[in-house]
Amino acid sequence: MKIVDNVKEIRNIVKEWKADGLTVGLVPTMGYLHEGHKSLIDRAVAENDRVVVSDFVNPMQFGPKEDLATYPRDLEMDSALCEAAGAHIIFHPEPDEMYHDDFSSFVDMNTLTSGLCGKTRPIHFRGVCTVLAKLFNIVQPDKAYFGQKDAQQLAVVTHMVNDLNFNLEIIGCPIIREKDGLAKSSRNTYLSVEERQAALVLSKSLKNGKALIESGETNAKKVIKSIYDEISAEPLAKIDYVEIVSWPTLEEVDTIDSDILCAIAVYIGKVRLIDNFIIKK
Ligand code: PAF
Repeated sequence: MKIVDNVKEIRNIVKEWKADGLTVGLVPTMGYLHEGHKSLIDRAVAENDRVVVSDFVNPMQFGPKEDLATYPRDLEMDSALCEAAGAHIIFHPEPDEMYHDDFSSFVDMNTLTSGLCGKTRPIHFRGVCTVLAKLFNIVQPDKAYFGQKDAQQLAVVTHMVNDLNFNLEIIGCPIIREKDGLAKSSRNTYLSVEERQAALVLSKSLKNGKALIESGETNAKKVIKSIYDEISAEPLAKIDYVEIVSWPTLEEVDTIDSDILCAIAVYIGKVRLIDNFIIKK
């Protein structure tokens, strides 16, 4: 698997691909790749002539008390997964290749980033938007692939690309789950056996909430309460938020009569997990 660690080299490679008329897909990741990432790479490989997987734990999107130092990393494992999936290059820069000493330009957003995860992670989306703007400028992809598990990120990046006229298409891909329903996440590796079992309350409560809506409930507060109560009954769970918002505009909703996102963030022990569903009316 070819691993490129500097901007100049990846730019030159992409330039040659484009000169040959080839299309380029980008799968932005922070590494420690799992089946969820693989589904994005598979789709990118199916839809593009060349695929770059960026593998960069972006320091700018972690708050001071978050898990930047301990975030799991395994380039060898990532490389094997990318090779098997048919990706062409891993872009794996060191932080100082992306952010030189006098780095001082940021991409931020007034809407979409203040609610949901933005409430408890105030600098997170500025870091995400900034690194993605850089990756889009460096790799110049035709398409970039994002999982729906981080639905707010998907809405934010789609909006940013539109606002700033980036010349690429954002492709949202479905959540990939373990057999028992837990959404795949690199952070699942932090869970103890007991916490792993407790974490099932996220997908179970969402499944029940979704069924409630599908059976005709349109009162958002009632659906939120049912999810909230189910999660609260799990002793190892501490709720960050349970919300129903309009999709993809992420505004508060009282009545469920148009497209919505139901999103939750829950601490299981010290591990913060997110999950969601989208209903299109
Ligand atoms: O979803 C992620 O892994 C990250 O937020 C992303 C999109 C790679 C930006 O660092």
